[in-house]
Amino acid sequence: MTMSPRLRKAVLTAHVTSSLGWLGAVAAYIALDVTAVVSGDVERVRSAYVAMELVALYVIVPLALASLVVGIINALGTPWGLFRHYWVVVKLLLTAAAATVLLLETRTIRSLAEAAGAGADPRDLSGSLPHSIGGLVVLLVITGLSLYKPRGVTRYGWRKQKAPVQS
Ligand code: HEM
Repeated sequence: MTMSPRLRKAVLTAHVTSSLGWLGAVAAYIALDVTAVVSGDVERVRSAYVAMELVALYVIVPLALASLVVGIINALGTPWGLFRHYWVVVKLLLTAAAATVLLLETRTIRSLAEAAGAGADPRDLSGSLPHSIGGLVVLLVITGLSLYKPRGVTRYGWRKQKAPVQS
């Protein structure tokens, strides 16, 4: 299943936009997360938690799911394939792991926003910096892999390369 050049460009555009949009949204989330942890101003901290929930649920989660789905389509629709090159397999695993941790983390993000809005002092809440910074590092690694595309073909990839071309 190989896409026409025109379709391939369109899918690649959607892929890069959603994936790097995810990375950019995580950077914005970290600005809020740092504010929530270091600011001494109660109202500022409260609004940071509320904004973190909105950014996570309505920007980061949709972009992460789009990046994973469009990434898989991109791999399957090009000669790269999904399981032929190590860089693609590692990207798949890292992206799936990052998206899973993110989905599990949404519960914590929701409860932080709820607690911050409930009237207690939001400065006592813990923020979510280990997850957000960890997520950013993983996304940077994935971006590097995408651009350097280190050599390395899987066993399955070798078999496919040697197989006679199907008409
Ligand atoms: C956060 C996650 C991801 C990021 C930041 C990302 C980033 C990128 C970028 C910047 C490119 C363009 C590279 C170039 O044209 O030289 C690319 C291409 C590509 N990505 Fe991803 N990607 C992600 C997830 C995935 C996933 C989950 C897959 C599938 C397993 C995937 C498969 C591919 C493939 C096969 C290409 C080459 C497409 C082509 O040459 O037409 N990516 N990615």
